[in-house]
Amino acid sequence: MGIILSKMRKKIVAGNWKMNKTLQEGLALATELNNVLTDASPKCEVIIGTPFIHLASVTSAVDTSKIHVSAQNCADKESGAYTGEVSASMIKSTGAEYVILGHSERRAYYGETHEILKEKVRLALKNELKPIFCIGESKEEREANKQNEVVKAQLEGSVFNLSVEEFSKVVLAYEPVWAIGTGLTATPDQAQEIHAYIRSLIAEKYGNEVAEDTTILYGGSCKPNNAKELFANPDVDGGLIGGASLKADDFKAIIDAF
Ligand code: 13P
Repeated sequence: MGIILSKMRKKIVAGNWKMNKTLQEGLALATELNNVLTDASPKCEVIIGTPFIHLASVTSAVDTSKIHVSAQNCADKESGAYTGEVSASMIKSTGAEYVILGHSERRAYYGETHEILKEKVRLALKNELKPIFCIGESKEEREANKQNEVVKAQLEGSVFNLSVEEFSKVVLAYEPVWAIGTGLTATPDQAQEIHAYIRSLIAEKYGNEVAEDTTILYGGSCKPNNAKELFANPDVDGGLIGGASLKADDFKAIIDAF
């Protein structure tokens, strides 16, 4: 019975385009992916995380029951005089369904703290966007064997304040900073070990059933040639893909790893 329950959680392959692709290039990529997936029956949910300016066009161009669309950030304010910011309600109004929050690049380059991210998560949920919440340690933290305390503090700081109902809408993505864009991937055993630890923290906080239902993605140099062995781990429920999500063939090959 436990085994059947553990299979219930959603498997996901999500692309994070980061700051790549003009509007025209992004539309071309989304359309190509849509065509490639039209006759396919992926064994996982497929999400693409595009820059803000692509969202409305991309949601119109693809079959959103096959390709779910995500933003990569949202403001920590509801609305008003915050020049250059994009609110969760604006993102929702484009037809997007998800928002990536807490990516290590935003934490490192834009000073996003636990508190700021807690507010972003709150506003995303309030506007019916599903957060893909990223956690993960740096190279120095891994070398000092601090990865467990780092991910614990990230969860406690920004999402463990949520109610069970709210938390059940969150997808987690474990992304070790040392593996992002470096070609260094966590080994399947390293990924499984920390994913299981993350799930145990969720179980402690919200109970076993919620923990078993939470999708935990792996991100960091996930490619067609290593996706299968990463996804084969019982606690790895898919991937958050950077570089390899920028080419339809590579992204499709990762989707096919399921
Ligand atoms: P890469 O797949 O390019 O290493 O990026 C991972 C990532 O940061 C996804 O959010």
